Amino acid sequence: FVLVLDFGGQYNQLIARRVRECNVYCEVKSYQTPIEEIRALNPDGIIFTGGPNSVYLEESPRIGKEIFELGVPVLGICYGCQLMAHVLGGTVTSANATSEYGKTKTYFDKACALFRKLPDSGITWMSHTDYINELPEGFSVTAHTDSCPTAAIADPVRKLYGLQFHPEVLHTENGLDMLRSFLYEVCGCTGDWNMGNYAQTAINEIREKVGDGKVLLALSGGVDSSVLAALLSKAVGKQLTCIFVDHGFMRKNEGDEVEAAFRDWDVNFVRVNAADRFFARLDGVEEPEAKRKIIGEEFIRVFEAEAKKIGTVDYFAQGTIYPDVIESGAGDAAVIKSHHNVGGLPDYVDFKEIIEPLRLLFKDETRRLGMELGLPDYLVWRQPFPGPGLAIRIIGQITPEKVAILQDADYIFREEIALAGLDRDIHQYFAVLTSMRSVGVMGDGRTYDYTLALRGVTTTDFMTADFARIPYDLLAKVSSRIVNEVKHINRVVYDVTTKPPATIEWE
Ligand code: XMP
Repeated sequence: FVLVLDFGGQYNQLIARRVRECNVYCEVKSYQTPIEEIRALNPDGIIFTGGPNSVYLEESPRIGKEIFELGVPVLGICYGCQLMAHVLGGTVTSANATSEYGKTKTYFDKACALFRKLPDSGITWMSHTDYINELPEGFSVTAHTDSCPTAAIADPVRKLYGLQFHPEVLHTENGLDMLRSFLYEVCGCTGDWNMGNYAQTAINEIREKVGDGKVLLALSGGVDSSVLAALLSKAVGKQLTCIFVDHGFMRKNEGDEVEAAFRDWDVNFVRVNAADRFFARLDGVEEPEAKRKIIGEEFIRVFEAEAKKIGTVDYFAQGTIYPDVIESGAGDAAVIKSHHNVGGLPDYVDFKEIIEPLRLLFKDETRRLGMELGLPDYLVWRQPFPGPGLAIRIIGQITPEKVAILQDADYIFREEIALAGLDRDIHQYFAVLTSMRSVGVMGDGRTYDYTLALRGVTTTDFMTADFARIPYDLLAKVSSRIVNEVKHINRVVYDVTTKPPATIEWE
């Protein structure tokens, strides 16, 4: 077990995730965790994260000397490396001449346990203005760059290691190998931890916390809420009620798929078919933000009515995952952007506490957990889908007829993408009913029907995106199938705009 001490860097959970990738269990705790608690945890190793501060400033996060006297190996990263040097009697100074940002060629001393298996030099990811200009006693330099003489330091006798760069980010070549060497060779970890262990630990923790209390979950059918439902079901069974509000704007068959996935699980599964209510509220509404607002409000009302039937619950479960946490600026990291959660928190439901058992997982880890728990592939690998669903993929006025047209066309597009084996390469792909009509010819007759737009994007964070380079032949097949199989569509176009300036969705 490895303890990651959080000094406020942006990559802290990424470090934890890399440790888990090496099959070693780890936990992230604040740098303010008392030394007695750390001693009691008895970790095999400790990692200090980076952070935005300068170690020599009064207000910066500090750590006492005692942690280095536990006999536990320590790896300091960036700020953590400088802090280790500072606390143990070295000096850290700001020197603009040696500040480094981004990819930096770094030369390694291969006698160091962390670099033994690596080439003599490689690219590392740097982000610092301060550097260590005087080493503490017992330390030597184990890597340098053209402008920073202390890119890595080590005192192998006390098993203390420091890296000025970030081994956890993918830009650092062989970064994972360095971490693995620290974990296996320096800390003596065996690497026998896996997602199955994680699931069991999470299940035990949930059981302990929830006791015989009741848990309520709003199940959307998306990856996060589905994995959470599966986890909670294994942990507390029928003490869990999942409410799945089907607003009628799901993709083709999707409502039934979600129901089929959970019908036989050990949970109280409630599906509310509320399409009529939603269509009625949206009658005559064309403006995208108005649609979103109405759907959000109506969702809450339907959910509330259903939740009231259950009465008071003890816990309200949310499928928050780590990227949501970091975006909201939780923990010690700086805020990047505020997270928008459609519908918001249902403050009308009576509950004691919120539980968020997935809050330490990244998306791909959430998926792996879902597979471990036995969820079907079609839920685990589902692409992101906006809360308001197809309602914001039909431009302007929504009608049941338009929803049906879009569902059929979208289904064909998704089917062909999957058949071509591209479903995991294109991060989001869907059809949009433009509501624009144009003239066509079918058989000997004139048609005047809808234009359908196809959208496919590749992205890492959905903040920026490129349009997917879908092969023409595939687009041709999709287009031909759609105009032949879906009534009222006589023209298909492909959206070739990036985000920005366009957004991924059309509304
Ligand atoms: P945009 O269109 O803003 O989309 O480029 C970025 C990502 O967010 C999803 N999205 C939403 N998700 N409620 C959601 O839960 C919404 O109202 C909403 N609007 C956009 C979109 O599908 C894409 O993945």
